[in-house]
Amino acid sequence: MLIDSYGRTVDYLRVSVTERCNFRCQYCMPEKPFSWVPKENLLSFEELFEFIKVAIDEGVKKIRITGGEPLLREDLDKFIKMIYDYKNDIDLAMTTNAFLLKGAAQKLKDAGLKRINVSIDSLKPEMAEKIAKKDVLKQVLEGVEEALAVGLKVKVNMVPMKGLNDNEILDVLEYCKERGMVVRFIEYMENVHAEVDIKGMQSPELLSVIGSRYAYEDEGFDGHSPSHYYKLEDGYEFGIIEPHKDDFCKKCNRIRLTAEGNLIPCLYFDEAMSIHDAIKRGDIKEAALVLKEVIRTKPEKNRWNDDDHEVSTRAFYETGG
Ligand code: 5AD
Ligand code: SF4
Repeated sequence: MLIDSYGRTVDYLRVSVTERCNFRCQYCMPEKPFSWVPKENLLSFEELFEFIKVAIDEGVKKIRITGGEPLLREDLDKFIKMIYDYKNDIDLAMTTNAFLLKGAAQKLKDAGLKRINVSIDSLKPEMAEKIAKKDVLKQVLEGVEEALAVGLKVKVNMVPMKGLNDNEILDVLEYCKERGMVVRFIEYMENVHAEVDIKGMQSPELLSVIGSRYAYEDEGFDGHSPSHYYKLEDGYEFGIIEPHKDDFCKKCNRIRLTAEGNLIPCLYFDEAMSIHDAIKRGDIKEAALVLKEVIRTKPEKNRWNDDDHEVSTRAFYETGG
């Protein structure tokens, strides 16, 4: 078991397979990212898998494939199958923008993927285009429908932003409710790669918008999920992810691995340790030692709620949020 210095069991590994993305969401990426990690610096799927085996042997029970946009990397289904074949009861999920999902969903499901999280920030084509800097909506929604049709469980993420999509909170909730998908509203997390003038919304404001149409009950937290859940009278549940709340990190059970082989104990801080060289050398023992050290140094909590905070300059598109 992997237990950090604050007694939290870490059993969730997020693996970013590429930092590249076919969208440029305002809250995540500048229009022209300065540079990409050169392809030759990336770990191959076989190399990432060598580390994943170590992590699973040490007690990791949930793996989420992230990016950038993971579907930009070729043969992703083969990578998923490698993990599934090693331990078929692993909770295997992926976060995707869904643009390339159409035509791929069945293959991913057959490879062992169980669940996906998809961003839907707007249901209006022009607003979706304004946020992602690309005309994406039609293809995203078709991808979502296909994922549901092949039996993948789908959760939806929406980042509400003032003056952009804040008037669509109820529409997105209803779109998801009609399809039996859980929606989670994510408080915008300030970061240097986003457009400077984004104004996010925090949970009291989000709840007042939802409360204007629906009565809801506070359901609290479900296991280690960072999402605070609420239930409408008809039983439909939605969530709010509140990184600005003081107790947000109390039950954090996750670490992150980037495509280059950096292991990251906390999204908020710059600290990371590399397993790149160890894995390239085939030194699995060294990689396991790095993993333990990263767990040992996992910080207690983020500082998004502090006035004078300095957020990590590492981009969310490198770590997959
Ligand atoms: N603030 C909040 N959520 C973000 N995401 C990406 N960047 C941010 C940010 N700055 C979320 C999006 C997307 C997922 C990959 O990460 O909701 O669905
Ligand atoms: Fe790409 Fe996801 Fe970042 Fe949007 S949020 S630019 S889809 S990595």
